[in-house]
Amino acid sequence: MLQEAIPDLAKYVEPDRVRREVYTDPDIFELEMQRIHEKVWIYCGHETQVPKAGDYYTVQIGRQPMLMVRASDGSIHVLYNRCPHRGNMMCGDRKGNAGEFFRCSYHAWTFQHDGRLRSIPMMESGYSGTPLNKESPDCSMKRAARVENYRGFVFASLAKDGPTLKEFLGKAIVAFDDMCDRAPEGKVEIVPTCFRVIQHSNWKIFLENQLDALHPSVTHQSTGRAAHEVEKEIAKRTKKGEAPLSYHMLSAFATVTIDKWDAFQTINYPYGHCILTGYMGLRPQDPDTKAYDQLMIKAYGQKRFEEIVGVNIHHVLIYPGLSVQSQLQQLRAVRPLSVDRTLTEIWHFRLKGAPEAIYRRSLAYYNLVNSPSTLINADDLENFWKCHQGLSSDGGKWVSFARHLGRDLEKDGVVETAPNCGTSEAPMRNQMKAWAEYMRG
Ligand code: FES
Ligand SMILES: [Fe+2]
Repeated sequence: MLQEAIPDLAKYVEPDRVRREVYTDPDIFELEMQRIHEKVWIYCGHETQVPKAGDYYTVQIGRQPMLMVRASDGSIHVLYNRCPHRGNMMCGDRKGNAGEFFRCSYHAWTFQHDGRLRSIPMMESGYSGTPLNKESPDCSMKRAARVENYRGFVFASLAKDGPTLKEFLGKAIVAFDDMCDRAPEGKVEIVPTCFRVIQHSNWKIFLENQLDALHPSVTHQSTGRAAHEVEKEIAKRTKKGEAPLSYHMLSAFATVTIDKWDAFQTINYPYGHCILTGYMGLRPQDPDTKAYDQLMIKAYGQKRFEEIVGVNIHHVLIYPGLSVQSQLQQLRAVRPLSVDRTLTEIWHFRLKGAPEAIYRRSLAYYNLVNSPSTLINADDLENFWKCHQGLSSDGGKWVSFARHLGRDLEKDGVVETAPNCGTSEAPMRNQMKAWAEYMRG
């Protein structure tokens, strides 16, 4: 039916521009949920969010309310948060522990952690002679079609067919390798609460902003300048002439000017994933970093240590739902709520085996750059809302992604921006290319 409502999707996306309805039409949003979010691999959460048997965490995949749950054998399952009896939601809380089994609050049907029916009150007398019995699938909680765990990061796909998680991630898998490899123990642990922000804009506006290297020194200039002034003042007062790294996290928005952003590079992969190379050079020589380096060398040896900390990426975008900053141990998960409302969950992680000071650095970035309490985030949110308002008007039909068009270097389906084209809109072109492929069905 939706396909009939949107007969010619091709007319909405050209290589360098997109029709505004792609962001504002509720029918297109419904089709996106069906063909993209409820099909591809979506990040559910980290395994350390559910450490004990019975622990669950709720998560939205497309339009579907889901549960990520740990079973007593240690396995993790992703289930629809719905009772098969009369449809009651199984868990009304965001997270919790179900105990030894799930028990529906309405008529006490109970289920194993993997969703299989455990009991129905007086089942024999109540259901003899009916099509329902303990084995019938209609009596169990429905599971996500596929679930995979990569280095602790749990993904689910609601489609039974499609690429494996590794095939889907391709080279963007570096987001998780880079984050985990930076831990002396080779794994990370989630900090168990996140910021949740509801943006009054379409979900794609957020994703397009993540690798938009043109905007930081414009949108965040005033915040960066103010931080830079304070940074200089503090540096003047210290013996070594240095301010804490956290000031640099903000001042870089002003000191890295537009022309400098062109020096970085984006690499654009199949399925809409993209990488932005590093810009902050997070290898300071303070005592905390040196202590961390020693632990890493002990764990991995000098050669492997150099390889690990030599990975130079600032941002990995995993389309359509995840933006990862592995070097600062954080990620933002995107959960579309409606055509003009988007939830983002902002999470950060601890490197297992690393000193507390390294965690504090991650926390500083989390609070100063990604949290809703910082001006950086507010700068972006204001743009997102204003973009959505502008796109809802009759002031124009198209959104342009033409910057540095025709200068991309393409090889084997991977598009690299040419030297000195870091502010290219190639990542947006790449995302919309994937969008169009998914939407064609
Ligand atoms: S709706 Fe769950 S037991 Fe009735
Ligand atoms: Fe921004």
